[in-house]
Amino acid sequence: MSADRKLYEGKAKILYSTEDSEILLTHFKDDATAFNAQKRGSIVGKGEINCAVSAHLFRMLEAKGIPTHFIDTPAPNQMRVCRVHILPLEVVVRNIAAGSLCKQTGLALGTIVNPPLVEFYYKNDDLGDPLLTRGRIQLMQLATPEQVDQLEIAAREINEILKEFFTECGITLVDFKLEFGIDQHQNLILADEISPDTCRLWDNTETDPDARVMDKDRFRRDLGSVESAYQQVLQRVLAQKV
Ligand code: CDP
Repeated sequence: MSADRKLYEGKAKILYSTEDSEILLTHFKDDATAFNAQKRGSIVGKGEINCAVSAHLFRMLEAKGIPTHFIDTPAPNQMRVCRVHILPLEVVVRNIAAGSLCKQTGLALGTIVNPPLVEFYYKNDDLGDPLLTRGRIQLMQLATPEQVDQLEIAAREINEILKEFFTECGITLVDFKLEFGIDQHQNLILADEISPDTCRLWDNTETDPDARVMDKDRFRRDLGSVESAYQQVLQRVLAQKV
């Protein structure tokens, strides 16, 4: 697979064009950033782990009828994906209160969020990815009202599938972020990645609030053992057959 032109380099991934104009190659990096890139570092083996976790979850979701941009993994840290037009929205689903939800609402960490909350954030580093309302999405013409409805329905369905999958892994899916794209036929396609970088995952075998953390919060909050937590997620995810 010849990866020719670099199209875009983000914080965690590099995107290349390929000989096929409808196929892109994603290279997953070990680089880690948090707090809108104010904190930077590297997590050894993260690229390969996030690529493998995402590939497994995309295959599993595809098998359950969710269209994704995933094609295959030509190398351990590389994923071939269908070219889509990425919507500039981050769709966050929350089952348990954590992170910015606690900070902005005063809800205690660990509060059950039922029904799950689906939120939209503007994918814009300069503005610090602000929380959006449906009105703002229309005003800014980021997506049509029909697309917003579709996004919320898809996010809820994906949440139910992922929640059940992670429960089988002995992991609680606290919250996560999704990105979607539109393909050449105007279909909504799940894109980007689903990994310990983009999900909050708590180990069900641990009760201590720090010891249970298996995701990027270990890096954000300097909890240590980041690599081994990511490895543990990978092992448990791969142990569940698709
Ligand atoms: O992580 P932080 O507290 O800054 O933001 P959040 O709104 O609480 O994040 C909710 C979920 O989305 C967490 O699982 C984050 O890891 C994920 N997220 C992400 O992957 N990328 C972002 N730009 C923002 C959030």
